[in-house]
Amino acid sequence: MSLLDEAARVRLRAHTPYSEFKVGAAIRSREGNLHLGCNVENIAYPEGTCAEAGAIAAMIAGGDTRIAEIAVIADSPDPVPPCGGCRQKLAEFADGDTPVLLANTAGKTLRTTVAELLPGAFSATHFKKD
Ligand code: THU
Repeated sequence: MSLLDEAARVRLRAHTPYSEFKVGAAIRSREGNLHLGCNVENIAYPEGTCAEAGAIAAMIAGGDTRIAEIAVIADSPDPVPPCGGCRQKLAEFADGDTPVLLANTAGKTLRTTVAELLPGAFSATHFKKD
């Protein structure tokens, strides 16, 4: 199954009673494993988590360290753009040239990279002295 198919599969498990906007994300880690995430909403709205954040959490909990590729899908008019917070998270767990495949459920796709989504990302290199 392709990374996008995996993202579409986990999207169906999203918990979205408030927005009814289901998002799925699938990561292939540098270590070669698959990690999935979907958005999980909460009545305290800001406490909800995005699909990308869930997939990153699964990757770290699974013992892997870096994103080699990610696919994200939602039922949006155009390929779903990751929110600002998720762009920052992607920039922290992937290199700038890491491929990002954005999609909608109608079959539109957009291939981009982490650096295109967040040019000039803030990172730990900006405050580390060594
Ligand atoms: N959402 C994601 O899961 N990923 C994104 O990149 C965009 C937004 C979720 C958060 C919330 O549960 C719903 O979509 C509507 O904002």
